[in-house]
Amino acid sequence: MTSRERFLSALACQPLDRPPLWVMRQAGRYLPEYRELKAKSSFVHMVQTPALAAEVTLQPLRRFPGIDAAILFSDILVIPEALGQPYAFRDGGGIEMARKIFTRADINVLAPVAAVTEKLAYVSDTLKLLKKELGNTKTLLGFGGSPWTLATYMVEGGSSDDFERIKLLFYTDRATFDALLEKLTEALVVYFQMQIAAGADAIQIFDSWGGLIAGADYEAASLKWIRRIVAALPADFPIILYAKGTAPHLTDQAFSGVRAISVDWTNDLAIVRRTLPANVAVQGNLDPVLMQTTPEIVAREATRLLDSMRGTAGHIFNLGHGITPQARIECMQALIDTVTTWK
Ligand code: CP3
Repeated sequence: MTSRERFLSALACQPLDRPPLWVMRQAGRYLPEYRELKAKSSFVHMVQTPALAAEVTLQPLRRFPGIDAAILFSDILVIPEALGQPYAFRDGGGIEMARKIFTRADINVLAPVAAVTEKLAYVSDTLKLLKKELGNTKTLLGFGGSPWTLATYMVEGGSSDDFERIKLLFYTDRATFDALLEKLTEALVVYFQMQIAAGADAIQIFDSWGGLIAGADYEAASLKWIRRIVAALPADFPIILYAKGTAPHLTDQAFSGVRAISVDWTNDLAIVRRTLPANVAVQGNLDPVLMQTTPEIVAREATRLLDSMRGTAGHIFNLGHGITPQARIECMQALIDTVTTWK
């Protein structure tokens, strides 16, 4: 069975001897070969140059052939950028957006949704290069942010500690909030259609800040827009939803039309597996901080998670959030060895 077959079988909730494995931020700062390329070119340049983006995507698979999926090297913030609100990195860490959106006039100056296919053609080119290189051996994952998570960056003007502006917009001017989310939803549908046409096997939607809105408002602020995106894409195409800090909403998420729910580390994955419908896969969910410990600790905790899921179907092994820059290579190797040899 190829890696790709294993991954697609897990997504289809078919029984397997062991789960497939990949991690979020798979290509990233914990890899010396990534840091070496990054020293020569900026993040945005690497993202926008298909040969470089494809190379970075493949770096982790060359070092760790046991990984079952390649995730496109890009960022969720290419959507605001394509709509006319570019992003940059703050010196002290975090994201800085050009401008801050708050009014209808701010939304009106954004580019039309059609700009996405033209401005993000490099993403399509990168995926085509990757598909050519990977063939049917490994799963090729595309991705994008959720409308809510992207809106937080656009309205807050970058990374935020309190998310006050986006919440004020949501509570005081729902029509403007909805207009922004509508625009993002349409842009993401076009963007995901392009990724599917370019060869993505599945798409992961990152609702990283879904847990920041009050529970009763999660539907109106975030999930409703995700549901619309899923409904606009081909019915049989697998979408994975990652939403951090949204434990009370896992069941609603599972009925949103997505094929898999990616679960953060604060949940007990075996309980989540028992709670969700059997035809929805679960992905996760080791604490990423474990990757900064020792290979022994990683092996112990990964085995514990695998054992807790024994006899269940529809599990994709992953971390509960992205791998951190401080992760140790030996820990990543231990994770892969543990999952691929688990009996
Ligand atoms: O997972 C992968 O390997 C694919 C590549 C990927 C990146 N960003 C590359 C990246 C993916 C899937 C993302 C998604 C993303 N980007 C999210 C959702 C996932 C999550 O972590 O919750 C978010 C919120 C962003 C926005 C973003 N981009 C942030 C908050 C940062 C960190 C900024 C900081 O303080 O350094 C980035 C930068 C970024 N995106 C890096 C990578 C590899 C690090 C850039 C670098 O310094 O090289």
